[in-house]
Amino acid sequence: MVIKHILVLFFLVFRLSSAAKVTYNVLSFGAKPDGLSDTKNAFLKVWNLSCNSTTPAIIYVPAGRYLIASALTFSGQRCKSKGITFNITGTLVAPSSYNAIGNAQVWIKLYQVNHVTITGGTLDAQGSSLWACKSSGKSCPQGSTTLGIYHSQNIVISKLRSLNSQMFHILLYGCTNAKLQGVSIVAPGTSPNTDGIHLSYSTGITILNSKISTGDDCVSMGPGLSNIWIEKVVCGPGHGISIGSLGWELNEPGVQNVTVKTTTFVGTQNGLRIKAWARNSNGFVKDVVFKEATMMKVNYPIIIDGNYCPSKQNCPNQVSGVKISNVVYEDVHGTSATRVAVKFDCSRGNPCSGIALKNVNLNFAGQPAVSSCAYAAGTASGLLQPASCL
Ligand SMILES: *[C@@H]1O[C@H](CO)[C@@H](O)[C@H](O)[C@H]1NC(C)=O
Ligand SMILES: *[C@@H]1O[C@H](CO)[C@@H](O)[C@H](O)[C@H]1NC(C)=O
Ligand SMILES: *[C@@H]1O[C@H](CO)[C@@H](O)[C@H](O)[C@H]1NC(C)=O
Ligand SMILES: *[C@@H]1O[C@H](CO)[C@@H](O)[C@H](O)[C@H]1NC(C)=O
Repeated sequence: MVIKHILVLFFLVFRLSSAAKVTYNVLSFGAKPDGLSDTKNAFLKVWNLSCNSTTPAIIYVPAGRYLIASALTFSGQRCKSKGITFNITGTLVAPSSYNAIGNAQVWIKLYQVNHVTITGGTLDAQGSSLWACKSSGKSCPQGSTTLGIYHSQNIVISKLRSLNSQMFHILLYGCTNAKLQGVSIVAPGTSPNTDGIHLSYSTGITILNSKISTGDDCVSMGPGLSNIWIEKVVCGPGHGISIGSLGWELNEPGVQNVTVKTTTFVGTQNGLRIKAWARNSNGFVKDVVFKEATMMKVNYPIIIDGNYCPSKQNCPNQVSGVKISNVVYEDVHGTSATRVAVKFDCSRGNPCSGIALKNVNLNFAGQPAVSSCAYAAGTASGLLQPASCL
């Protein structure tokens, strides 16, 4: 009797929990997965239903190629939903001709959403026609970010692949609590401004187990960030992981509490970089830990550029106002592609303080590399090769 009751109870709980989700298959809403028919409207219909659903919704995207022919926004402003999951097997593809999304800023946008998960799938922005336009010297649109997430909370992006973005691949702005894991990002090393993941004005962002090959920064961190955790990320080709550029604006929120752990850089321009414009600013960077990094032929494995002013334009002060403090580099090893493997080129007006080097071992062409310091103070411990210049 008791056993029978327990079984009935289990059955009910199982039924309730599985019934408490509703699945919308985009194919049932007119999407043709042929890569030629625009499926934007089908996606908007399922989003609207999911958004209005009082039970958590799953948007199911089976295998196939789904053309999204113009910029698409999933807006969560008035959603009733307690959670929406995109379960994607297929590929969302942009038109091959760049004009369709080139001026849109963002191709696929999540705006003011809460509790949204994207799992699986591929986003193929087909950026190569725009890159060709840009390299021809013609006038071209700026290009759009592939996936932009704005003013949103409790986001999970898992096992998503992003290919050949026109500009940034994934951008988070004004977000709280997001986790990106198992993300794979691929664009050629020569593609312009194709940053992998760009973060700004956000807090509580985790990036785990991801592989990023692009023509620009692997992960770039702009102003207004706190509580950022990046772990097990492989970068290359590209420009490495960068905090900055910061300090373009006079009044700019800072970047604090950033951990970048267990990273590998393969043939990248930079490894672990902090970069601040040589302009007046109230910005800052503090409490950063870079630990367990492997460099493989990286041009500038460890670099702080506190005097960033490309082409010597727009830097009337020539001194950065950004204050950089408490930055730890621990267990960083491997090979540099240039002789100066550790470079702290800090602002004369706001010297770097509290820089700590612990167990850093970097070689150049089979020889110990060298380090270079300007306006940088801190401590050094453990095995250090090159010798510290702090
Ligand atoms: C989705 O909802 C928005 C807001 O209510 C509405 O403007 C739009 O027409 C809807 N789109 C579709 C395809 O149902
Ligand atoms: C949700 O449903 C309401 C009432 O049916 C409708 O007015 C509204 O446009 C719907 N919202 C979306 C996003 O579809
Ligand atoms: C996505 O949907 C497929 C097919 O229904 C299912 O097998 C898979 O478990 C789902 N994945 C997630 C993460 O929900
Ligand atoms: C720093 O950020 C991590 C998450 O990355 C968080 O767990 C920790 O509490 C934060 N520390 C402080 C002092 O806010």
